[in-house]
Amino acid sequence: MSRLVLEKIIQSLFAGREVQTDELVHVLSAGDPGVVSGLHTAADQKRLDMTGDAVLLRGIIEISNICIQNCQYCGLRKDNRRVHRYRMPAVEVLEAAKRIMHGGISTVVLQSGEDLATTDSISTLVRTIKSETGLTVTLSLGERDREDYRRFREAGAERYLLKHETASRPLFETMRPGSSYENRRQCLQWLKELGFETGAGNMIGLPGQCMTDLAMDLHYLNALQPDMIGIGPFIPHPETPLAQYPPGSSPLTLRVVALSRLLVPQANIPATTALGVLDKSGRINALHAGANVVMLDFTPVKYRRFYDIYPGKARALTEMDTYLPILREELAAIGRPVG
Ligand code: 5AD
Ligand code: SF4
Repeated sequence: MSRLVLEKIIQSLFAGREVQTDELVHVLSAGDPGVVSGLHTAADQKRLDMTGDAVLLRGIIEISNICIQNCQYCGLRKDNRRVHRYRMPAVEVLEAAKRIMHGGISTVVLQSGEDLATTDSISTLVRTIKSETGLTVTLSLGERDREDYRRFREAGAERYLLKHETASRPLFETMRPGSSYENRRQCLQWLKELGFETGAGNMIGLPGQCMTDLAMDLHYLNALQPDMIGIGPFIPHPETPLAQYPPGSSPLTLRVVALSRLLVPQANIPATTALGVLDKSGRINALHAGANVVMLDFTPVKYRRFYDIYPGKARALTEMDTYLPILREELAAIGRPVG
């Protein structure tokens, strides 16, 4: 595919015109560094036009690592007996939420595995956090009943992250045995209907995934127009069936981030932790390719190593009290103030 044609496709995306699957595949597979840098620049410009220069910070608390699912890729899968399971007591979650507030961050993300025993306590927790900190509350607790989502919303949660993981049905079904492709999409629809700001997203480099699968992810995001999009590379975990596979590629992840920005211009797109694990400058690179959000881990240190989704995750983030000023400096150095 000639450079001129590829640049035309990127221009079309920038202008908001519809593009075909094969055109996305060509951009995803482009070998010409000039084309790739053109893609990043277009996404960076779109990010500036739509969200400005400010980088939004989110504080994440990993409240439970208990999970009933058995995703092939994830260290928290229920068959991994080597991980010590925990559920944070509400007082400790509230303390962590207060640290987020005192850090000058306005949004807390409560994340867990699919730990279904927690519905009542989550609603209470959301109410307490809202009344004692005033933080915007984002939940990321996996697939639940519509009624659970409704109760979380009623308790005051404003946002919900549920990555679609992959838009390819066969890949989804291989990677998430026992989990339903339809149900996950249904959950995303429910969340939208219930008035949540909703986040989707997918992994890059899952074993067996091809460029057409990634183009389908992009089409799905384009159709859903979610408020948030999380895109991260697959990182093999030694205690999973995928231990022997190679990780996803950082450059390919950045292309998908950039294309997501062009297809869902107003979305909040984090520079994901997983990108930072693969590559020291991964998160900064993402901020130059369409991303506008950084998530900071406020999980108390004593739990952090147990939230072992993929290797390197707990290590990637040091104590927030020391890291936050460093991040502010890093962002200032690239001319991106903290929002
Ligand atoms: N590598 C990268 N990301 C992973 N996730 C789970 N396992 C891995 C892995 N091995 C991501 C999934 C999930 C989120 C909690 O973490 O996208 O939605
Ligand atoms: Fe559980 Fe989520 Fe990990 Fe799947 S990806 S095993 S649902 S924590």
